Amino acid sequence: MAQNWSPDSWKSHEARHLPKYEDADALAAAEATLKDYPPLVFAGEARALKNDLAEVAAGEAFLLQGGDCAESFAEFHPNNIRDTFRVILQMAVVLTFAGKLPVVKVGRMAGQFAKPRSSDTETQGSVTLPSYFGDNVNGIEFDPARRRNDPERMVKAYLQSASTLNLLRAFAGGGYANLRQVHQWTLDFMGRSPWADRFAETADRISESLDFMEACGIDPATVPQLQGTSFYTSHEALLLPYEQAMARRDSLTGDWYDCSAHMLWIGDRTRFEGSAHIEFARGVGNPLGMKCGPSLEPDDLLKLLDTLNPAREPGRITLISRFGHDKVEAGLPRLVRAVQREGHPVVWSCDPMHGNVVKADSGYKTRPFDRIQAEVRGFFAVHRAEGTHAGGIHLEMTGQDVTECVGGAVAITDAGLNDRYHTHCDPRLNAAQSIELAFSIADMLKMAASEAQADAA
Ligand code: PEP
Ligand code: CO
Repeated sequence: MAQNWSPDSWKSHEARHLPKYEDADALAAAEATLKDYPPLVFAGEARALKNDLAEVAAGEAFLLQGGDCAESFAEFHPNNIRDTFRVILQMAVVLTFAGKLPVVKVGRMAGQFAKPRSSDTETQGSVTLPSYFGDNVNGIEFDPARRRNDPERMVKAYLQSASTLNLLRAFAGGGYANLRQVHQWTLDFMGRSPWADRFAETADRISESLDFMEACGIDPATVPQLQGTSFYTSHEALLLPYEQAMARRDSLTGDWYDCSAHMLWIGDRTRFEGSAHIEFARGVGNPLGMKCGPSLEPDDLLKLLDTLNPAREPGRITLISRFGHDKVEAGLPRLVRAVQREGHPVVWSCDPMHGNVVKADSGYKTRPFDRIQAEVRGFFAVHRAEGTHAGGIHLEMTGQDVTECVGGAVAITDAGLNDRYHTHCDPRLNAAQSIELAFSIADMLKMAASEAQADAA
């Protein structure tokens, strides 16, 4: 257990990107409410995810983490939850079948509300208001009353997370994720994508394999791995008053866990040595992610790893690199080498979203699909050269047919962004673009495996 740590020890550290609440009593009331509510996850589940991630760190599995940039109260609807879950399942099938590796599935769902912002304020015309920090902090509408930080929103976010997680658990274990359903998962609008045929082909081959197993006397209905799936939740542990209120001592081990999600990550803007966010994270037993951008120096990374994972527990840390398509091949090797040299057992995952944001001529923030793909390719090339496992992918994506990232086989154009641009924060891949990317990652995984085999021979 971490030394000199308590759920509120972060308060004596430098905290960036935390909202200031005017009404201290309202904040205390919301915190007290959350402290008395049931945990959203059980510590044993967080440990199960840590074990799964240890397999990824050992090169024997692949991590698929994805979901909204920011969940919102307005887009809270069962269809949205179902469609994102379904695309993640489809991507996992593609990666498992083509890449021949088990896939650990983690949603940016059921708690991904708070957002760090580059500026504390936003100006429109002659009016300046506080920036929007996510639906668990304030409202997105450019209006003084809506932009006020309201602690009650944390309670609403908790309740939304609880119902989202409930539906995800039902889908994962209740039959929806049964591999026999693989054909039913096809989304209508994916039917219009050139990648739909390739998915249908994969689905046919999976069905054939299941038929074959059955003919051999293995009844798929009795194999739990085919009946359902493990699905975990994650979000950025940014809003520390909320995370602290969700911290619980595990009755089995006596250790502290942040029971707001299975996995928490620390963002690129809050992962500096001595930060409040690192202080909070080091004391909870969950698997942790940490974003690694171009400003992170190898020595600082090593110090952070010693702080967060002094016992060097495999599966505890996932390093999520987010350099940008043109910086990954120059910037990532220094970090990979330092971590290898010190023998830290980490999962390396690639976030090809946050280093590739551009402003389109139309004024929309977008991410060109070819840059996203190029960063993933660069990430695989670096790990191939360093002899390490390209272990995962971290995406902002949705099951909805949005038009937020330009390009892909569905060929979303700059002018087309306006059609269905719905995100509450950053542009997300839509369902067809997500599947397309999964196929291209599966090819990279296949190539990495055959090269590793050739090296071994
Ligand atoms: C995010 O993942 O939504 C995010 C803000 O990323 P980063 O911390 O890498 O900028
Ligand atoms: Co984002």
